[in-house]
Amino acid sequence: MFSRFKKPEAGPARPAATLVPVGAAQAAPKGPAPTTVKAPAPAQAPKSAPKSPAEAAAADKERKRKERLQDLKVELHKRLLENLNLAALEKASETQLKSEIASISAEALDEMSVVLSGPDRAQLHQELYDEVMGLGPLEPLLKDETISDILVNGPQRIFVERSGKLQLSDVTFKDERHLLRIIDKIVSAVGRRVDESNPYCDARLADGSRFNCMVPPVAVDGSLVSIRKFKKDKLGIQDLVRFGAFTEEMALYLEAAVSTRLNIIVSGGTGSGKTTTLNALSSFIDNTERVLTIEDTAELQLQQIHVGRMESRPPNVEGKGAVTQRDCLRNALRMRPDRIIVGETRGEEVIDMLQAMNTGHDGSMTTIHANNPRDGISRLENMVAMAGIEMPLKAVRSQIASAVNLIVQASRLQDGSRRMTSITEITGMEGEVISMQEIFRYERLGLAPDGKIIGRFNATGVRSHYSDRFKQWGFNLPPSIYEPIH
Ligand SMILES: Nc1ncnc2c1ncn2[C@@H]1O[C@H](COP(=O)(O)OP(=O)(O)OP(=O)(O)O)[C@@H](O)[C@H]1O
Ligand SMILES: [Mg+2]
Repeated sequence: MFSRFKKPEAGPARPAATLVPVGAAQAAPKGPAPTTVKAPAPAQAPKSAPKSPAEAAAADKERKRKERLQDLKVELHKRLLENLNLAALEKASETQLKSEIASISAEALDEMSVVLSGPDRAQLHQELYDEVMGLGPLEPLLKDETISDILVNGPQRIFVERSGKLQLSDVTFKDERHLLRIIDKIVSAVGRRVDESNPYCDARLADGSRFNCMVPPVAVDGSLVSIRKFKKDKLGIQDLVRFGAFTEEMALYLEAAVSTRLNIIVSGGTGSGKTTTLNALSSFIDNTERVLTIEDTAELQLQQIHVGRMESRPPNVEGKGAVTQRDCLRNALRMRPDRIIVGETRGEEVIDMLQAMNTGHDGSMTTIHANNPRDGISRLENMVAMAGIEMPLKAVRSQIASAVNLIVQASRLQDGSRRMTSITEITGMEGEVISMQEIFRYERLGLAPDGKIIGRFNATGVRSHYSDRFKQWGFNLPPSIYEPIH
């Protein structure tokens, strides 16, 4: 078979070999055996037990089918890597490459006397394409738009999040070595390396998704991978209102708050929707303003025309070249910003963020990891203390109180729904304590039989501390939005 994608030096076709794991040494024992040798069955992730014997038999059949395809894939992948000219691949189109894979695999299957049904063959070819060009078993999950997070706990357990709920997927890696190979492919694409001495890494996938991994022996039961999928169409204010994340009234209030340049902190737990909220809030920023964004992994997608995006950098393998969020922030202050947005404040950059908010860059926004607005304040205090600033607590608090105007709390509730559970204003200091007033909150009323939380958003009856400011800027919010429903 002639192929321009084949390695020029490719020798005669290899005899069928015993199956070895992907990436294993080339020393597969040679032999004429025309059949596949069964690899050890992968440990099965716990799945809900089938109910009837018929279902059990069907599940068993499906499992065997998958194992067989997996084994074939391993062998064919190995052959592809041996036969394909990887340099030529870069210029090949998807169609060319797919037809190439189909022809090499057909040749190999013939040689091994393996007959596959049409759909199995198609699936095998797609998986092979994903192995060669993409991220192997992760590819279908990355393509599935209903999935927002992918969490890998070792090669056999891959969880996905759909509509706020985590579920075990039926996708698996062949073994730890296969998983490590894919991890290596991801991190080497961004010039990083993970190994025993450097066991974890943050990276961004080609499609913009945020990626973190940790490999053994620090990860005890196999490599851990977390991927936050990049959403091309970020949820906007109207989407969030439609999904019940907050109400029209709250949106009106938030519009006034952002437009009148209040300094806002979005607080929330992991995956509670902080970045999404920050991104949606940014849509209220006027197009004439110069906005600078600083993130560890660029996720924000601002719609304004005048946006400068910065992404911090970890040190390279020699431990050099790090550019922290704090470095970016300090530099940003010299770049004449109207507003600064820091994706997540988690360390020493808090000092510069508070200073920026206090010194003319009002309208700045960031997120912090905290479970309620009061905790958010404590978290800011702790971050200041950890940054090594020797300042009396009262002074730290008054810095915070004059820097931050509003804390918006994002929460992921137990039914998977994400809601803005509180909008709280910071109104100043009373003695040593920062005074706050809640304007809107989410009230839980009960639990439906299907596990969904029943609740409603309500105003607390407190009128905004910033009402006059809103009015001066032309935002005449109807007084009714502050009235609670009883
Ligand atoms: N109100 C919402 N309704 C439905 N999905 C949402 C909502 N808010 C956020 N999401 C989705 O939830 C996922 C997590 O959101 P996001 O990245 O904003 O969380 P986060 O708090 O910033 O997470 P992390 O702590 O990991 O940075 C995303 O896929 C996002 O699209
Ligand atoms: Mg985030």
